Amino acid sequence: MAKTATLNFDGNTYEFPVIKGTENELAIDIKTLRSSSGIVTIDPGFKNTGSCESAITFLDGEKGILRYRGYSIEELAEKADFLEVAYLLIFGELPNQEQLTSFHNDIKEESQVDEEMKKILDGFPKSAHPMGVLSSLTSALVAFNPTSVDVSSEKAMYHSIVRILAKFPVLVAWTLRKKKGLPLDYGDDTLGYVENIHKMMFKKPNQEYKKDTIAIDALDKLLILHADHEQNCSTSTVRIVGSSHAGLFASLSAGISALWGPLHGGANQAVLEMLEAIEADGGDTKKYMAKAKDKEDPFRLMGFGHRVYKNFDPRAKIIKKSADEVLGSLGIEDPILDIAKGLEKEALEDEYFVKRKLYPNVDFYSGIIYRALGIPTEMFTVMFALGRLPGWIAQWREMRLKGEPIGRPRQVYIGENLRSFVEVDKR
Ligand code: ACO
Repeated sequence: MAKTATLNFDGNTYEFPVIKGTENELAIDIKTLRSSSGIVTIDPGFKNTGSCESAITFLDGEKGILRYRGYSIEELAEKADFLEVAYLLIFGELPNQEQLTSFHNDIKEESQVDEEMKKILDGFPKSAHPMGVLSSLTSALVAFNPTSVDVSSEKAMYHSIVRILAKFPVLVAWTLRKKKGLPLDYGDDTLGYVENIHKMMFKKPNQEYKKDTIAIDALDKLLILHADHEQNCSTSTVRIVGSSHAGLFASLSAGISALWGPLHGGANQAVLEMLEAIEADGGDTKKYMAKAKDKEDPFRLMGFGHRVYKNFDPRAKIIKKSADEVLGSLGIEDPILDIAKGLEKEALEDEYFVKRKLYPNVDFYSGIIYRALGIPTEMFTVMFALGRLPGWIAQWREMRLKGEPIGRPRQVYIGENLRSFVEVDKR
């Protein structure tokens, strides 16, 4: 028999259906709460609120499980490549070879960015944060691709999707090249998706591009690990902006801004800056552990804690191993890797962190790999955005295909009651 939840309020009883997900998660369906009772729920930070039913990503924060479309993140990180994962997330199934080739060809077909876009990029100072630049350029793309807003048919929607999958890496590469003072470059259609990204980012104007398999594989894995994470801050932003039927690119631009913050994707930059500061301060991890625990001190151990994971973030485990492998293969000895490991060890044994179930998250080790690959610290969150792109697209597509209503939360007003206007000379 279907379960229901009962609410008793003010002498009345209200019944609400309880829905069950495929992994047995339960949720009280309160769609009729306000219309039947006149009251609303309040849940700052949406800690208890499911905003949608979604078939894309499953995560169990208590058990440390993450799956895209039913496939474990561990298996995907080991066996799949980023483009396959993008297809899986967006369309629901792993592509066969023919589907993958045709998807990639469609992307290559769209991989030019209007030359006029370079003028917009030129307008930014070199010191501009790359996340602001990327968000602006992504939004500006709408002006050069106005038909991308029309997603009234599956075909039109597919066209918008391949367009952004093609052009976004070019914008990412341009953002990096601007920062480094390198000439802007286009990719090479003969290369794989991630290999091409690597080339666009790192090719020197006076040298032949040499394929760097270690770097490309590491990048591919990091992009897969970041590809989706259900209804996080930036994804919810993409869905809510998209719910007003703003176009895909505008929705993504908003998602990039949401990702920028240090409590979300910006944590990868913050982690590295924190590790560098600890190193510069003599490597005294105990001092920083004490600061993180001191409630009078705003310092937090960046890269630790997660809204959903109350156990190891499975992505952090894979990235930690990958950091060891990549640095080992490249022959890099980075003292901040030792500081990171030292902090992790201390935190995992510390009562404050144990009691609050604070574990390393995806961003704790990712910056160490990016740094080893020659990516500047300010670009780390841009790399996160590049990885998250297919997840954002998949979530936006799911929302649009389901015809979800515009996102518009309620509030509880706690301001002044009605009062009369007082002329300025009488105030
Ligand atoms: N260092 C020290 N204390 C922490 C940390 C931390 N990194 N994270 C949480 N806490 C403490 C809080 O002070 C709070 O303590 P209290 O109960 O004594 O008040 C308790 O743990 C719970 O923390 P909240 O902030 O309530 O947890 P919330 O779910 O709101 O926040 C967040 C999660 C934002 C990720 C938080 O853990 C944090 O700020 N971490 C550092 C930033 C970071 O790494 N962000 C990346 C997240 S992953 C991602 O977005 C890709």
